[in-house]
Amino acid sequence: MSKLVFIGTGYVGLVTGTCFADLGNTVTCLDISPERISKLKEGIMPIYEPGLEQMVINNSKAGRLSFTTSYQEALDGAEFVFIAVGTPSGVDGEADLQYVRAVAESIADVVNDPIIVINKSTVPVGTGDWVADIIKKRRAGKPLDFSVVSNPEFLREGSAIADFMQPDRVVLGSTDREAANKVAKLYLTLRCPILITDLRTAEMIKYASNAFLATKVSFINEIANICEEMGADIREVALGMGYDKRIGHHFLDAGLGWGGSCFPKDVKALAHMAVLHGTHPQLLQAVMDINRNQRRKVIFTLRRALGNLNDKVIGILGISFKPNTDDIREAPALEVIHLLQNEGAIIRAYDPQAMPNAREVLKQVTLCENPYETAEGADALVLATEWNEFKQLDFERIYQLMRQPVIMDGRNLWEPDRLRCMGFKYFGIGRGINNHCD
Ligand code: NAD
Ligand code: UGA
Repeated sequence: MSKLVFIGTGYVGLVTGTCFADLGNTVTCLDISPERISKLKEGIMPIYEPGLEQMVINNSKAGRLSFTTSYQEALDGAEFVFIAVGTPSGVDGEADLQYVRAVAESIADVVNDPIIVINKSTVPVGTGDWVADIIKKRRAGKPLDFSVVSNPEFLREGSAIADFMQPDRVVLGSTDREAANKVAKLYLTLRCPILITDLRTAEMIKYASNAFLATKVSFINEIANICEEMGADIREVALGMGYDKRIGHHFLDAGLGWGGSCFPKDVKALAHMAVLHGTHPQLLQAVMDINRNQRRKVIFTLRRALGNLNDKVIGILGISFKPNTDDIREAPALEVIHLLQNEGAIIRAYDPQAMPNAREVLKQVTLCENPYETAEGADALVLATEWNEFKQLDFERIYQLMRQPVIMDGRNLWEPDRLRCMGFKYFGIGRGINNHCD
């Protein structure tokens, strides 16, 4: 079996590395964080991803999966090395490639045998060529036999293992067809379409895919805002649209907008790349503007319901950027909390998995043990993330606990009729019809 190395043990590197081990390959995962690696060696996960812990433990026990901080040790005898480090936003919205550069340099410094360098990080078009140049320059005196393949990753946090095992497609881009074919072989067992393109096209497919999904969400949020004014219900509008196969049901859930470690930085990076090359990414700008404004809806709605928000107690349910993850990067909840604090509101918050991460960044927020403690004494409750455990809350209890029964359902999770009939002032996103109680 092939020896695979994954550089970076975050959501992408750890999940894909572990999944490849599960398929029978010998995999080494490397990270510069000694803390991360020593915990992984003990079977302690650095992230919450459903199903991952058991898979890591099983494959480590079976001897197929190991962890290290040493490039020398990891790359010894490796045929494939995957780059899966972060590419966060830089100052102007461009992708910050410092981690990718550092990895390319480390590979150049320790590898001597032929190797295929596969880039899984989301990077601007042209980065594959840039990585190849870095390696070539660093090895000027002692050329290395290597090829670069772009292999963008499409997994979602919260369902990452299933997304890896049953992908809609695998995209590979390279100037070296033979290298791309070798990487394709690693995926054959997944029985999905495999598209082989040139390097730049593969890199663009990733940005275009994320930007399109973000556009779909911003589109439905814009329609939701119109629904609200026109007395229509966005949930049914989305349902009615989605039956059209050309539109589809996915990514039409209106809410507080998209967040996470990828959409925000990737749409920004694509727009930045476009401007840099002389085009005008007007649609991308609008997609970002709509998303920004979506968070502010909470403030406008609560002001309408409560008047001045100074000293009002607001309970926030859900902090992670979406359910089933502990990731709070660019989470709508964080922005909403920040905006509410600017208005002088007092914040209480709870999340099923993101509390350790939240504790590190949230200042002057009372972090609660559960949804009921969050509701205690609150003038309003805001649902920011649609975790399963929020679906069937005991609203009678919540009604008793709150100081004022105001609910802002930022994910359209609950039934407006039911809550209004219980006496709550319910506000959703784009649910314009003022329903009545029977
Ligand atoms: P992450 O921030 O969770 O993890 C990155 C890891 O890389 C960290 O553990 C860090 O310590 C390590 N690292 C940084 N520099 C290193 C170096 N020089 N050598 C070794 N390790 C190093 O990142 P992530 O969310 O897994 O994302 C990685 C890339 O994949 C990004 O480009 C992202 O856009 C892309 N991506 C992410 C997702 C997702 O769901 N998170 C999905 C698809 C694509
Ligand atoms: C997204 C893409 O779906 C993945 O294909 C991609 O690999 C990944 O980005 C990446 O490049 O990192 P992820 O960020 O994990 O995955 O989460 P999504 O499920 O796409 O949700 C993104 C955001 O959009 C969340 O804040 C979510 O709440 C929001 N969203 C999603 C909506 O508001 N409405 C929807 O209908 C769908």
